[in-house]
Amino acid sequence: MAGSLREQDAGRTQRLAGWVHRRRDLGGMVFIDLRDRSGIVQVSFGPDWTEPESFGAAGKLGAEDVIAVRGEVVRRPAEAQNPEMATGAVELQATSFELLGDADTPAIPVHQNPGEEPPAEELRLLHRHLDLRRAPMQAALELRHRLVLETRNYLDRLGFLEIETPILTKPMPEGARDFLVPSRVHPGEFYALPQSPQIYKQILMTAGFDRYFQIARCFRDEDQRTDRQPEFTQIDVEASFIAPEDILGWIEGLMVRLSEVAGMGAPAPFQRMAYRDALDCYGSDRPDLRFGLEIEDWSEPFADVDFRITRAALEAGGRVRGLRLPGGASLSRKQVGVIESAARKAGAPGLLWVKRTEDGGSGPLARFLGEGHYDALSLRAGDLALAAAGPDAVTSPALAAARLRAADVAAVPRGREHAWAWILDFPLFDPLPDGAGITFNHHPFVMPAEEDLPRLESDPLSCGARAYDLVYNGSELGSGSLRIHDAALQERVLRALGLGDRQIEERFGFLLRALRSGAPPHGGIALGMDRIVQHFAGATSLRDVIAFPKTTAARALFEAAPGRPGRAELEALKLA
Ligand code: AMO
Repeated sequence: MAGSLREQDAGRTQRLAGWVHRRRDLGGMVFIDLRDRSGIVQVSFGPDWTEPESFGAAGKLGAEDVIAVRGEVVRRPAEAQNPEMATGAVELQATSFELLGDADTPAIPVHQNPGEEPPAEELRLLHRHLDLRRAPMQAALELRHRLVLETRNYLDRLGFLEIETPILTKPMPEGARDFLVPSRVHPGEFYALPQSPQIYKQILMTAGFDRYFQIARCFRDEDQRTDRQPEFTQIDVEASFIAPEDILGWIEGLMVRLSEVAGMGAPAPFQRMAYRDALDCYGSDRPDLRFGLEIEDWSEPFADVDFRITRAALEAGGRVRGLRLPGGASLSRKQVGVIESAARKAGAPGLLWVKRTEDGGSGPLARFLGEGHYDALSLRAGDLALAAAGPDAVTSPALAAARLRAADVAAVPRGREHAWAWILDFPLFDPLPDGAGITFNHHPFVMPAEEDLPRLESDPLSCGARAYDLVYNGSELGSGSLRIHDAALQERVLRALGLGDRQIEERFGFLLRALRSGAPPHGGIALGMDRIVQHFAGATSLRDVIAFPKTTAARALFEAAPGRPGRAELEALKLA
């Protein structure tokens, strides 16, 4: 292979096949960087060692032409060696070559000089066939393969069986919209693509496959964000007769193994944090724990502050919460504005702030605060305080966003590189906006905390769940729980969610029948494979670790999907 040639190969006759990475014509010779999956090696064509016909043709080769070349590996003279290249001590002196595949002028360069920016992402996605040839994409997809392979081997060693579940299926509630596929055989009826294999894996538990996994493709029609794709891959895991501790232990072990494969360390055991504490201290159930900047409750110091906004929030039963940015007083008005706009984007009407200076304070809160307040907030000269007032449902997301943005704007040092955490003790349900009832926090099959069962109907929002999330550097990598394995309890939870008997039977009858057929206690988890690879590859986007991803507008630019079906196809499906 091109990338594996070394000094000790000198003298060997070698045939290589690959792509013309770039060509240079120098002093009557032609140099080509030849690329294959293993890397790049220099090939030289000269009148003294290359057959005349090949020598003439070499000067006409263009970037991305595919060639097979034959020649001798030679040691390069000392001054011509390239220590930047793994193969930089040698070159292939070509005797002849054959053009195997002619290339049009590439729309985007595959070759990228060190430090050079990659082409614009839209161009990269439009010309994905070329983009995939670029070294970072090749490395990312190889790492992805290694991680998937290691996952399979690791779970296999623990006795897990990989079992495929259907893609043409029935709606599975995971909180997103379903992609629907019309049935031609049954006009007017639709399959749903699975949002996850959740119900199937539970039915596999009732069937006695007590340790299941699947590298599973999932589909969710939801508003796209940078950490979401409409189709993505889960490491989906389920096991019977287990406690949450078993799942946590297995998955911690898996993450340590995968970290090793990616060449990084993972300090196990992972930190554990209750959902309430995560929201209280970080405003989010997926806190970035690489740095501190914890949110504090400042309701008490603000109790006597004569400021309309904080007073109204406290009187309405809300809280004044905030965080202290040591040395933050040196941030410019514009930088504080950037933090404030992150809080606004997260739904807060604004952010209250004050800089403590040697002789008082400055900023919107300054004229309402005195020395005593600063001391109560532990605010020292040179510090910046950022605060939000109102119900936690508003201040938590606002302060979470402000915290992350402040850490970036003020370049807060990351105390650790890899911050893993389990978030535990989730609520079973969440309120819907505007008092429109309740919805599930994870999904409807999560086992409620046993001690809360008596309040399932009377006070559902006070019920806890036997659920856990895996968080890494502020990103939710996985989510799981123990499941309900008792049909009667499952029906109670579905009714608490507002479903009537008919809906329950129509949507979940098959699950309930399976639960009534002798169901073992069981639980599991699903990890976002794309997110794992993204973090381990150090990529900034999920799209950089998926061969053919969708844009944030849910389009495939390269192959142009979605598209409009023709009239004949619609007629066959009996669709207007
Ligand atoms: P959940 O919906 O939390 O749980 O998904 C599990 C993990 O999958 C990843 N993920 C995504 N990755 C990329 N794009 C998306 N659109 C996307 N949505 C989710 C996340 C997430 O943590 N059935 C349950 C799991 C269980 O209870 O066992 C489920 O699917 O990393």
